[in-house]
Amino acid sequence: MSEFREITMARPDDFHVHLRSGTMMQEVVRLTRPWRRALVMPNLEKPILTAEDALRYHDEIERAKRTHGVDFEPLMTIQITKDTSSDIIHRARIDGKVLAGKVYPRGLTTNSEFGVVDYPKELYSTLLTMEETGMVLSLHGEKPGTFSLDRERAFLETLSWIIEHFPRLKIVLEHITTAASVGFVMHGPPTLAATITPHHLYLTLDDVIGTTLRPHNFCKPIAKYPHDLRALRSALTSGNPRFFAGTDSAPHSRERKECDHGCAGIFSAPTALSLYLDAFEEEDAFLIASPFLNEYGARFYGLPPIPDQRWIQLQKKTWNVREMETRCGVKIFTANEMGDVHWNVLAS
Ligand code: DOR
Ligand code: ZN
Repeated sequence: MSEFREITMARPDDFHVHLRSGTMMQEVVRLTRPWRRALVMPNLEKPILTAEDALRYHDEIERAKRTHGVDFEPLMTIQITKDTSSDIIHRARIDGKVLAGKVYPRGLTTNSEFGVVDYPKELYSTLLTMEETGMVLSLHGEKPGTFSLDRERAFLETLSWIIEHFPRLKIVLEHITTAASVGFVMHGPPTLAATITPHHLYLTLDDVIGTTLRPHNFCKPIAKYPHDLRALRSALTSGNPRFFAGTDSAPHSRERKECDHGCAGIFSAPTALSLYLDAFEEEDAFLIASPFLNEYGARFYGLPPIPDQRWIQLQKKTWNVREMETRCGVKIFTANEMGDVHWNVLAS
């Protein structure tokens, strides 16, 4: 364990976040503070499907940011469906406005009714245009029709097909949860990267269903075996630039989590940075934390590393998220039952 009490680093980027819209967004944006940039997912109840949708959504985020005095830069995505035309992709790429196109597996996660089942048939020409225009393919890598615990592994076959047919397409396998995905990305081409969430660095399936049912630890892809968790931690600390931060912070109200048909999603926006730092520290790999958080993702997406030389200063000091949680009505993820978090933002 390191003896770091205080650190200063370039402000981090979150390459996978759900901000929602309307009232929920107000709360979420208010609590999404430490990040320099955040790649915003498009799976709203009415999904973001075009450049025009993305621009309207961008404006809504900007308004919420102004209301709450928050200053991360939202990076926009659209959802790719079987109806996404080449024209939609071209328009979204004008001025590089929309960075990535996200594909969901149909029916497997929140708001995925417009998801895809069959890649070769449904997406061939879309992927071709994405490759041509430099739009990054962001993948929720689970295969519909497969048993829950096997879905991510089964998807790797689809992923191999995509890589083989679109060798210049940049691909991010989002929120990986298995040793198989870690190995696949490690040995994959330079066009392939993966995000690692903070919650998957702490949870196994036992934390979801091992004793009582813990709906606030339920997310997709669901946390897997202890050996998968170990593999994720080794990817985190490997210094391989094709693994980077994407929190998949995904808020749902308590009512929608604690019920029949509870939603998948873990809200970690206020604690994610601290949880990443703790994991690096626990693995004795603190020096890799900074590039994982603020360099590798930007490099993969072709963004400037530290656009305006903004820094963040963090201090090791325990604080508790419970009060914050009561105000926003959404359970905030921490690695312990008490709600204690160890790293505190001093200045940014
Ligand atoms: O757990 C998840 N929650 N996984 C997803 O893929 C979607 C997300 C959400 O939007 O709630
Ligand atoms: Zn997500």
